[in-house]
Amino acid sequence: METSTRSRQTILLLGATGTAGRGAARALLAAGHDVVALVRRKDPQLPAAIEQRVVQITEAEALANDGFKGTRFDAIVSCLASRSGLPRDAWAVDYGAHATVLAEAQKRGRPHFIYLSAICVQKPKLAFQEAKLAFEADLMASGLRYSIVRPTAFFKSLSGQLARVRDGKPYLMFGDGTITACKPISDNDLGRFIASCVRDTSKYNQILPIGGPGSALTSKAQAQLIGDALGQDVRMRSVPVALLNGIVGLSSFLGRFSQTWADRAEFAKIGRYYATESMLVWDADAGRYDADATPEYGDETLEEHYVQLALGEISLDLGEHAVF
Ligand SMILES: NC(=O)c1ccc[n+]([C@@H]2O[C@H](COP(=O)([O-])OP(=O)(O)OC[C@H]3O[C@@H](n4cnc5c(N)ncnc54)[C@H](OP(=O)(O)O)[C@@H]3O)[C@@H](O)[C@H]2O)c1
Repeated sequence: METSTRSRQTILLLGATGTAGRGAARALLAAGHDVVALVRRKDPQLPAAIEQRVVQITEAEALANDGFKGTRFDAIVSCLASRSGLPRDAWAVDYGAHATVLAEAQKRGRPHFIYLSAICVQKPKLAFQEAKLAFEADLMASGLRYSIVRPTAFFKSLSGQLARVRDGKPYLMFGDGTITACKPISDNDLGRFIASCVRDTSKYNQILPIGGPGSALTSKAQAQLIGDALGQDVRMRSVPVALLNGIVGLSSFLGRFSQTWADRAEFAKIGRYYATESMLVWDADAGRYDADATPEYGDETLEEHYVQLALGEISLDLGEHAVF
């Protein structure tokens, strides 16, 4: 790893109260940086070493006066993301809030901007993916040093079925359970990867797809790991993708007349996307996902995570963000 000379840097952290943001906060502190987090409300669970500034991040004046204040930041790390993924929220947060922060950063010493995006933006079909891509484009054109991190699936997104399997219910999978695959990455490993972008010059001005350690896992393989962690046989139930197509079609039609149905249609599209698209690097020339081309990082595995969940050593906090 090539490293830049300044070891201790002052970092502005956005989205510190989210899943990835908490991992990044821990890793940035462990790397010896000074961290200032902009939050909607103070969070007692964040490490005490982090200075929390309460600010309405979408408002330029508040961001300048209460967020940046007089501090000169060396880097901005953003794990900020819309919690719903709905179009208006995605464009307000994944794009709008970031554009506001970028504009302020241009006036404030032009810090390194480390942006947490998602691997799925490589095949955009959803509003939040378009919003993220629009910000990625703005950032790359800004002239600021950037690192765009595009992770695969988080552990939390693959853990929702453990409780239902423990309750004796079947594990639900689309098709035969091998339509999609991913290389899951833990919050800690992703946090360390994000923090490494601060000093690792090979990650400057790069788009960085990243997965966790080990081979790609299909939905069926995840079910097997859940069964092993619980020490019980797993009943599988196949759900046809055509059912999702039907739900998307019907809710999209009703969405022409009602915002509630339009929102349901977007959720259904998000569900269908993850049921049919892998979280791996997309090889556009070959027209397929490429597990071998998907970089691996870290040492925490989904298998260990399931065991910890099964033993009750950790609990699953999906927050308001259960759709991803
Ligand atoms: N889940 C996955 O498997 C996965 C995989 C690859 C990439 N990703 C991407 O990783 C990113 C982070 O995901 P995550 O699961 O860590 O997100 P998350 O847990 O939902 O956290 C979102 C963060 O953004 C903040 N936020 C949202 N709306 C805000 C607003 N209007 N004003 C101020 N703050 C706001 C939240 O603050 P509050 O706590 O105040 O709400 C929270 O800190 C997302 O872009 C996601 O697409 C996720």
